[in-house]
Amino acid sequence: MALADILQQLDDLATEAVRAFEAAADAAALETARVEFLGAKSGRLKAAQKLMGSVESADRPAVGKRFNEVKTAIEAAFQAAGERLAAGPRRVVPAEPQFDPTLPGTAVRIGRLHPITQTIEELKDIMGRLGFSVAAGREVEDERHNFEALNIPREHPARDPLDNFYLAVARQAAPAGPMLLRSQTSTVQIRVMESKPPPVRVISLGRVYRPDTADATHYPMFHQMEGLLVDSRVTMADLKSVLRLFAASYLGGDVHIRFRPSFFPFTEPSVEVDYHWNDQWIEFGGAGMVDPNVLQAVGYDPEQVVGFAFGLGVERLCMRRHGITDIREFYKNDVRFLRQF
Ligand code: DAH
Repeated sequence: MALADILQQLDDLATEAVRAFEAAADAAALETARVEFLGAKSGRLKAAQKLMGSVESADRPAVGKRFNEVKTAIEAAFQAAGERLAAGPRRVVPAEPQFDPTLPGTAVRIGRLHPITQTIEELKDIMGRLGFSVAAGREVEDERHNFEALNIPREHPARDPLDNFYLAVARQAAPAGPMLLRSQTSTVQIRVMESKPPPVRVISLGRVYRPDTADATHYPMFHQMEGLLVDSRVTMADLKSVLRLFAASYLGGDVHIRFRPSFFPFTEPSVEVDYHWNDQWIEFGGAGMVDPNVLQAVGYDPEQVVGFAFGLGVERLCMRRHGITDIREFYKNDVRFLRQF
């Protein structure tokens, strides 16, 4: 065989072997290629070595030199392939960018406050401008603060255990007697007056609990805003002015307000408060002049101070403002609803 042919065959062998090792996608493929080219018995490199015997002695140095180069190249390619497979799957380098920078981006959706929380913040704001500061209460109360100090006697239907969420608290663990989830924020009136002397001008906003079946207008948990003002000279005219200013601020300037005689144990006289809005009278809550028994229960002198109090439903206000017709929407946690506010 002519020298040039032999050298060409050796070069072709190297090219094929290197290509096979580079193409090996896993250990099994690499092993197959190794046996084919580097196999000790019948590998193609071995076969090429055997051919050396038939080479003319004058050509032997040139052929031997090329054989050694080819052998080194093949072995190096085999080793490189082994290292590549050991290093893990090949990273695919994308030929082009994976995104189109000219397309509009995906906006991050920012969360927001729950509509009831937003309403509470706004009510605090309005009442703050009328000089009322915010008092915090407790959601778990004793009977003194939820009923007795508020002049609600034991036989009053509001104290029926079936109309309240009483807690199963061991007698030793409850020195203040049976505990319940508060059914009204009027409890905070008592807590505030117990803690400081008059004058008092506070609001308190928070959750109250009643075992009502949920429907479009009832929910076993809802929010109230309680207001209390105690001073030396306070009249129902002040009460009506505050509630009218409040209504005008929250619902808009053309709101009219009306008092209807009513009864609450903790106020005397007591009224229901209606707002006239969109051609309808809508009941928003109760109010009245603080009953002297309540002032006495907290150690105030009813001969020296008078006060007014009111309690409004927060959900109702928010529903009226936004045209929401079902209170249950607030508590389903459906972001499609909540996102609108
Ligand atoms: N606590 C009453 C209720 O839950 C609302 C209420 C009425 C609060 C009259 C008051 C008030 O402060 O004076 O139905």
